[in-house]
Amino acid sequence: MINPFRKWLGRDERTELPPLDPENIPEHVAVIMDGNGRWARKRGLPRVAGHHSGMKNVKKIVMAANDLGVKVLTMYAFSTENWGRPKDEVDFLMKLPQEFFPLEIDELDANNVQVRMTGLRDGLPAHTLEAVQGAIERTKNNTGLILNFALNYGGRKEIIAGVKQILQDVQDGILRADDVNEDRFAKYMLTSDLPDPDLLIRTSGELRISNFMLWQLAYTELWFTDDYWPEFTEEHFHQAIAEYQRRARRYGGV
Ligand code: FPP
Repeated sequence: MINPFRKWLGRDERTELPPLDPENIPEHVAVIMDGNGRWARKRGLPRVAGHHSGMKNVKKIVMAANDLGVKVLTMYAFSTENWGRPKDEVDFLMKLPQEFFPLEIDELDANNVQVRMTGLRDGLPAHTLEAVQGAIERTKNNTGLILNFALNYGGRKEIIAGVKQILQDVQDGILRADDVNEDRFAKYMLTSDLPDPDLLIRTSGELRISNFMLWQLAYTELWFTDDYWPEFTEEHFHQAIAEYQRRARRYGGV
């Protein structure tokens, strides 16, 4: 069983975390970090204050995942549909990597975390891409947790791009149409070198997938909480994994 008490916390701060089976930790956890805007509104703050608070919450959950031995943590930071938000909000979100990485990269690197990005690089402002690319470059040889930011990501666009590439490869004689199967198709997804998520967490009480990893989530266990992302704690994370460990994954079998 893994650390029911975090020994580095002060006596008064100790929280009891649900015991977990170290043999059954999900390899890939994906998170839809939802509810930043409502968190802010509840406090009479502008929506962007919620995004800022949400950004501040990322590292804590990365460290919790790393401590548990999760191999990949994908965080949905910006969807291809989020461009439709007011310009000020989009601009603010696009500046978050510039704030996040200088603040956190030393600790992430020291903990052997490898930063990656899944999404369309085209369309992202140069300053955003530069910040993300710098972190990817700096941590590319790390062998610990893969921290994968889904940025400018949309599941349907990903599938369509994959299908177009398949058609092109068939036309070019690289691939035979008859050879297209699930494993081959997965190689045309942006996550071609990652395992599919075992567990999806969505905060804020919304019970939707919202165009996130549509192909990859086929057999993923889903876990929802009403709490908003900025108030999502390590305890929630452990609860989600404890619940995952109680589920029987059957993949359509019996
Ligand atoms: C959804 O909440 C959240 C987002 C669109 C942005 C999530 C981004 C972060 C938490 C920061 C990411 C950090 C880095 C380093 C890139 P919402 O705005 O839809 O909330 P609402 O449904 O309450 O309005």
